[in-house]
Amino acid sequence: MREKVTITAVKARKQGPKLTMVTAYDAPMAHIVDLAGIDMILVGDSLATAVLGYEDTLPATVDIMIHHSAAVSRAKPASLIVTDMPWLSYHTSTEEAVRNAGRLIREGHAGAVKLEGGRKRLPVVKAILDAEIPVVGHLGLTPQSVHAMGGYRVQGKDSQMARALLDDAVALAEAGIFALVLEGIPDTLAELITSEIAIPTIGIGAGTRCDGQVLVFHDVLGMSDQRLAKFVRQYAHLMDVATAALQQYSADVQAGTFPAESETYHMNNAIIEELRAERAIETGKTSHQIGVDE
Ligand code: KIV
Repeated sequence: MREKVTITAVKARKQGPKLTMVTAYDAPMAHIVDLAGIDMILVGDSLATAVLGYEDTLPATVDIMIHHSAAVSRAKPASLIVTDMPWLSYHTSTEEAVRNAGRLIREGHAGAVKLEGGRKRLPVVKAILDAEIPVVGHLGLTPQSVHAMGGYRVQGKDSQMARALLDDAVALAEAGIFALVLEGIPDTLAELITSEIAIPTIGIGAGTRCDGQVLVFHDVLGMSDQRLAKFVRQYAHLMDVATAALQQYSADVQAGTFPAESETYHMNNAIIEELRAERAIETGKTSHQIGVDE
């Protein structure tokens, strides 16, 4: 059995080998991610789009995140569970943010929380850290800001935004977060940020020079037929496999070849004959008519 991945172990991986993180939203998914030896499970608010059918991540609530995080924790993975703080759970007040982060730990059984944003969120990040809750930061293309960003766009391409992202990363790292997700930024900027901070960076659409990588479960396994972002690599096409399997199941049902003898329970025939005879007396039918369509 794998040793439980700790925050200390994650921080030490700044020196390599590279960190891996994949999202999971329920117990079977968490079990698969764990079996694959992935370091961290992200219970991402991407669950809103990946499994709940919403257009973006904004409808995810603290209660929804807790529901899925607790399900993931029941798989008892060795992977460290990091659960997303959803939109509006840390934007209204520091007290509210600490309370919500605490619920993700206490009720969702997360080992750490992740939240989006840079220096603007520093007071909230510090307050959550003060409550002894480990925090992962998230900078660059931050999906909770989809409206403010005017869509899902690569961030940090001009000098002003690149400098701001670097300053945000340094401030968050100095505040005490233990890892930083960099999403949708140029590879050279991700490389610079990675070299300037002492904690591991985990990239998604941020090139290869981060200290680790994260992908969404459904994307990496090809479980949807939605258009994928350029940075996604599909390592399987489970949607095709699942569709073909269900088509075969349907065909077998129609052909009467499912269930087979080996998939069927049996009982003593005398008991059935006895029931048939009793039923015949009750209904006035002859016993051979019982159980036969009119
Ligand atoms: O919610 C999520 O899945 C994420 C990843 C894209 C990093 O935040």
